[in-house]
Amino acid sequence: MKKFAVFASGNGSNFEAIVTRLKEENWDASVSLLVCDKPQAKVIERAETFHIPSFAFEPKSYENKAAFERAIIEQLRLHDVELIVLAGYMRLIGDTLLQAYGGKIINIHPSLLPAFPGIDAVGQAYRAGVKVAGITVHYVDEGMDTGPIIAQKAIEIDEHDTLETIEQRIHKLEHKWYPIVIKQLLGLNNRGEKA
Ligand code: GAR
Repeated sequence: MKKFAVFASGNGSNFEAIVTRLKEENWDASVSLLVCDKPQAKVIERAETFHIPSFAFEPKSYENKAAFERAIIEQLRLHDVELIVLAGYMRLIGDTLLQAYGGKIINIHPSLLPAFPGIDAVGQAYRAGVKVAGITVHYVDEGMDTGPIIAQKAIEIDEHDTLETIEQRIHKLEHKWYPIVIKQLLGLNNRGEKA
């Protein structure tokens, strides 16, 4: 069975969508660990509900990024993680983690990259008045929301859309497509079995 970790910093609606889909479809895979850099985040409660172990850490209590990334790597190895899925992890991945898991870390971003990287991507797109918005799943490198693109999905914005409706529509798109891309990267077929 393939094992992967999800990294998140906040609400965790994508985390929940991934775990729910995996369970509904009975994938030959499991989320063996949640990694969270905000010990008070809602996503930790969600992991508890699903009985998924979490490693929640306070970055400030480590000497530097390399030190907390070494602690993360230790946990990833303990849980046999083969793929790292960033789902709202609002922190750049550093050299230590990239060297250990390079090419095995993916991220989802709520814009059609390379447009609108960074925080509040949906707000940035809304204020720019775009007529097409969307999501991107990509491999992670040392940059902010950079790295080779794996998949993108788009929605058309119409005159009735507000920032709130666009945010809702983008989340819905993420919840549908991130599990599908993860399943493919794990080498599982449509039914979640080994392809
Ligand atoms: C998601 O929209 C995700 O695309 C975004 O954070 C949100 C987390 O929501 N990530 C980024 O902006 C990465 N630069 P969630 O905690 O409800 O899953």
